[in-house]
Amino acid sequence: MKIDLHTHILPREWPDLDAKYGYSGFVRLEHYQPCCARMMIGDRLFREITDNSWDPQRRIEEMDRAGVTMQVLSTVPVMFSYWAKPDDALDLSRRLNDHIAEVVRAHSTKFVGLATIPLQDADLAAAELERCVRELGLLGAQIGTHIDANEHCHGPDCRNLDDHSLNAVWKTAEQLDAAIFVHPWDMLGRKRMPKYWLPWLVGMPAETTLAICCMIFGGVFERFPKLRVAFAHGGGAFPFTIGRIEHAFHVRPDLVAVDNKVNPRTYLARQDGPGAMRPARFYVDSLVHDPEALQFLLKLFGAQRVALGSDYPFPLGEAQPGALIESMAGLSAEEKAHLLSGTAREFLGLACP
Ligand code: CO
Repeated sequence: MKIDLHTHILPREWPDLDAKYGYSGFVRLEHYQPCCARMMIGDRLFREITDNSWDPQRRIEEMDRAGVTMQVLSTVPVMFSYWAKPDDALDLSRRLNDHIAEVVRAHSTKFVGLATIPLQDADLAAAELERCVRELGLLGAQIGTHIDANEHCHGPDCRNLDDHSLNAVWKTAEQLDAAIFVHPWDMLGRKRMPKYWLPWLVGMPAETTLAICCMIFGGVFERFPKLRVAFAHGGGAFPFTIGRIEHAFHVRPDLVAVDNKVNPRTYLARQDGPGAMRPARFYVDSLVHDPEALQFLLKLFGAQRVALGSDYPFPLGEAQPGALIESMAGLSAEEKAHLLSGTAREFLGLACP
């Protein structure tokens, strides 16, 4: 069994939100061939997409070919629109969430879903999370790595995930037993990265590190002990920089440990006596494209905290979801089962079949 925690979907039909809301910056879909569409922001091509981005049947065919039992559907992060007016972001979130719920309802053995929520207004976000979980049957939400404030911004300044305004979201997620999947977006430093796809290669791993550090140092895991959070792309650059981060915690607690006195290393897996490993406090997906990096993730997080994630259907993802995990020598059958489905199941609160 394979559950792919990290896949993105869009509705085929999407309104012109620049026209609807009366200001620009929203994604528009231009279908120029039956199989193909362009995601446009104003006159700028954001990305070419094909019908596996919106057609459940095409997705199921590709899942069957790759042996993927179930996909966890979430929107494409460019749709977050945390910069928009809160009521408009709520409206567009509801459209995306209703669509995901519709796909899940029509193919309930193939798909489960995560909502998107207007994080720029925590009360609206919490209420939408509650609607999605209670009424639509979604299992939680995918959120960005921070609340952005780009050139179109109509909200307050940029806020990170340690911001106390988000307490309402964490509290609601905890109460609903809802999973939170953190996906990098609005990459830092992107103005300095005009070439080489660097926002995706350098900005994204840095964004994810920023989000993890903010949640740890902001004491979010201390304040919300039951909150379940997973980070995309194997936790970005965090795993390889934990040594530096822990060292800083020891040498400059005046800068680092101002809101949380707990050593960041404590949130990772540890040996709890001979042969007993206590897994990490939070989850990551397996999308690192490198067997030694995945091995290192397993050491830091434990197999119970690493879940198959492919970033389907996009090219920076794993073309054969689960191939890296399956190629790993020296993993027990139990560990592989955790990585391929058990961890996602536990993270999402899905019952065993
Ligand atoms: Co992704």
